[in-house]
Amino acid sequence: MSNPIDAEALLSQALGAAAHAYAPYSGFHVGAALLFADGTVVTGSNFENASYGLSVCAETSAILSANHQGHREGLVAVAVVGGPADENGAPRCGDDPVTPCGRCRQVLNEVAQLGQTDPLIFCGHSTGYAQHRLSALLPHAFGPANLT
Ligand code: THU
Repeated sequence: MSNPIDAEALLSQALGAAAHAYAPYSGFHVGAALLFADGTVVTGSNFENASYGLSVCAETSAILSANHQGHREGLVAVAVVGGPADENGAPRCGDDPVTPCGRCRQVLNEVAQLGQTDPLIFCGHSTGYAQHRLSALLPHAFGPANLT
């Protein structure tokens, strides 16, 4: 049997990643941590742009990093945390869970479908986290299998 997933540890890694967020326009610092079946964790943070619409979310940043590191299958869990930075610019969890935006759900789905997993998504907030399957956040998803 595979090891149980330590959601708190993954959320903690996501919060660590949020320290690297570049979010001067929204002031909303987000970190994401991807857990793969072999135990590898890959993190990412949001990277905004002066042309606001070109900003990249933490989850997408983490997926791109994972791909670069050779991890494209076996995505079993994702932790996301974020919120307005504190007065020193440090990241902190907001009172509401951060759920992946629609675009990030689709990006996560690409990797999930490739590896035939349905990852747990841990959405952190100041007093805990909410937990959802990706398939619940993105039902009837369109993915690589639809193009065959
Ligand atoms: N953001 C993420 O990085 N991930 C999410 O799940 C929600 C939103 C970023 C995008 C933008 O840089 C900032 O948070 C405010 O929307």
